[in-house]
Amino acid sequence: MNKNSQGAIGVFDSGFGGIDILRDIVQELPKHNFIYLGDTARAPYGTRTQQTIYHFTEQGVKFLLEQGCPLVVLACNTASSQALPLFESRGSLMGIIKPTVKAALYSKPERVGIIATEATVRSNTFLKEIKKLSNKTEVFQNPAPLLVPIVEEGEESSKIAELAVEEYLAPLLKKNIDVLILGCTHFGVLEPKIREQVGKDVKIVREGPVMGNALKHLLETNPKLEKNIKKKGKLRFYTTDLTDKFIRLGARFLGKKITAEKIEL
Ligand code: DGL
Repeated sequence: MNKNSQGAIGVFDSGFGGIDILRDIVQELPKHNFIYLGDTARAPYGTRTQQTIYHFTEQGVKFLLEQGCPLVVLACNTASSQALPLFESRGSLMGIIKPTVKAALYSKPERVGIIATEATVRSNTFLKEIKKLSNKTEVFQNPAPLLVPIVEEGEESSKIAELAVEEYLAPLLKKNIDVLILGCTHFGVLEPKIREQVGKDVKIVREGPVMGNALKHLLETNPKLEKNIKKKGKLRFYTTDLTDKFIRLGARFLGKKITAEKIEL
């Protein structure tokens, strides 16, 4: 076990997007130590099969647990939707889907729309979790795979982004949704473009703030877990492929410079 990292909250994502979620988490919990792992060598996960996503996620989680993380947050929707049900017995994991669904249902919507990766939509995890809490709510999903590379190329304010967002939202807007879940780590930065398309009456659920609140609440209500987490405000980044892009996008998503270490899973 790496003694330096012991006691940090682990945050796992397929690649860069989870850093956008981490930024909001750190805003809520600025003193807690975090270790982020992005499996950039094998991202995106969203186009892969459940078997592969589970295998990759299990390796990522194992790495973070070996670093002594008392809690691992799966900040990736694809990993949470495809792999988390298989980890259910392990108490030290927190996924991104359930907190997002809880936040989406807060205003008691009648029709919820979701955009996410192909794998997340195929798993129907959002749909199932919504139905568990609110059987009458109608759910409409649309995979939006092109939005991931658009964000990774820094094109979130471009005409391309506008066209892609319009295309992906059109079938959901036709259903008169009252809440839209941005069910992918990358989509939070597209919120301004998405807002332009959906108008002011649709509530947009962005996952970063949701996870910040959910994690804070989890720690407040679990003093034993909270006690095991070091509070020196340290952030460490690991990646399976240390590219310039990881450092560049990481800094953009986090809002400050990052350094990272390459590891093998
Ligand atoms: N992190 C993934 C998610 O939230 C998006 C990128 C990928 O497909 O790996 O679903």
